[in-house]
Amino acid sequence: MEKRKAYYITTPIYYVNDVPHIGHAYTTIAADTMARYKRLRGFDVLFATGTDEHGQKIAKSAEKMGVEPLELANQVVLKFKNLWPILNIKPDDFVRTTEKRHEQVVQKLFNRLYEKGDIYKGEYEGWYCVACEAFWPESQVEENKCPDCGRPVEKFKEESYFFKMSKYQDRLLQHIKDHPDCIKPESRKNEIIRFIERGLRDQSVTRTRASLEWGIDVPFDSEHVIYVWFDALINYLTVAGYGIDEKKFNFYWPEAVHLIGKDILRFHTIIWFTMLMAADIAPPKMVFSHGWWTMEGEKMSKSKGNVVDPYQITEEFDADAFRYFLLRELCFGQDGNFSKKLLIQRINYDLANDLGNLLSRTVAMTKIFCDRKIPEPLGKDEKYDVELRELAKDMVEQFIQEMDQMSFNVALENIWTLVRRTNKYIDQTEPWILGRDESKKERLNKVIFHLAQSLQIISVLVYPFMPATALKIWKQLGIEEAIENMLIPEDTKWGKLKPGTMVSPGENLFPRIDDKKKDGQEHARKKKTLKKKKLKLNLKSKN
Ligand code: MSP
Repeated sequence: MEKRKAYYITTPIYYVNDVPHIGHAYTTIAADTMARYKRLRGFDVLFATGTDEHGQKIAKSAEKMGVEPLELANQVVLKFKNLWPILNIKPDDFVRTTEKRHEQVVQKLFNRLYEKGDIYKGEYEGWYCVACEAFWPESQVEENKCPDCGRPVEKFKEESYFFKMSKYQDRLLQHIKDHPDCIKPESRKNEIIRFIERGLRDQSVTRTRASLEWGIDVPFDSEHVIYVWFDALINYLTVAGYGIDEKKFNFYWPEAVHLIGKDILRFHTIIWFTMLMAADIAPPKMVFSHGWWTMEGEKMSKSKGNVVDPYQITEEFDADAFRYFLLRELCFGQDGNFSKKLLIQRINYDLANDLGNLLSRTVAMTKIFCDRKIPEPLGKDEKYDVELRELAKDMVEQFIQEMDQMSFNVALENIWTLVRRTNKYIDQTEPWILGRDESKKERLNKVIFHLAQSLQIISVLVYPFMPATALKIWKQLGIEEAIENMLIPEDTKWGKLKPGTMVSPGENLFPRIDDKKKDGQEHARKKKTLKKKKLKLNLKSKN
């Protein structure tokens, strides 16, 4: 058998000082979608996510809660691990930076750069933002605020090991020029280039043990622990098997793609690329940085209490609908706005009206007119048949092109062009009228056959985005083939769903949501919490 091509996709590893929110869900859903898509394209995929457990931010949160940092990590890691199956996300690996396998790789790399002379001892004097876990030089900090997140920064001076990042400045610029796709989108790549051109400084890569206990030891100096970003970035090597499984590493690493949010692009391109260059490892093939979600137009924050909680959302809405919304609503790379109203609209129009109805109509008509059996397509084609078939072929081709660029929203538009066209085909061919006339049986069979083929194609294309929904469609269409054996384009060819296959009408894929009722429920919920608050206040004042 021909050896399959590799594809390695990662999400950032998430801090364990906080529970999962929409940002975590977004990147991980996008990565899961790409992993599923690439598998359908015949790739051997490694998809990884995990948690970032060291550093000052976690240490401080743990201290506030009066627990050990590892205890905090052990609790919060479950919130992430348990969320992924709820969102129909299936990573191949989940890495925690407190695992032995990771510590070993970090120390190995630190040693390697030290032995090469690219890490040296010096003194750090400047600012530090705990929220971003970022060092800032004096010249960039105004009014004691982090230039990135605006939160207060701390000033300190201590002995520190530095990585000679400045040495790699020209090589880094050359690399980005030679590999135009290594940073996406283009606009963010240009920002990074401009940043590098202003000049790179050497990067502090340790903290003294006296100021921070919670980190991986510098292998040859127990007075120092490794900087949390130096540690965290290496997770991508750990998962790929660096220094552990050479065969695995050589297979996956050259195809590495990191999905991240826009706020952590500099760490992932400047620090990470130069660290790898110093270690004689090729930088990842691509770093794609996506935009941020706001909530009803406002920045999400814990203090405002407007953070979208994926656990809560999936209690209210179907997980696949949430996945669909996140990838359909915005262009991957740009910022966008989340609102329940928009989500409900997408569910009602795209999922219930367009897709759900198409399935229920097709399956119901196959049952009524053809005894549940997909019929043989006899007789000559009519205009609408040819049009539908050609559109399906075009949409599959365009879908592939868009997915290869991670243009999720356009790829979904392609699928929905076919969904809507197929619904229109029903209206044009009027099978319920054909069904009344025995002499039109051949034509009716042809129409039902075409509907089934179109739905089969749609269901395979939809699978990476909405895996549970695709399975439901396959069940109703009578498709028994295992997903591991499916491929695009092979399984998106006209005629793939064979005559004689028995359909099984089932439940509505997406029941419509009455948004007025939802608004009412929301109103009632708010009223209830207000009442509770008032009651508490009353109790307090009485005491
Ligand atoms: N631990 C680091 C990553 C290390 S990777 C080697 C980290 N962790 S995080 O838990 O803060 O992850 C945040 C991720 O969520 C980032 O990719 C960030 O861009 C993303 N988002 C945080 N809020 C977001 C939105 N409101 N919308 C979309 N993504 C957002 O950073």
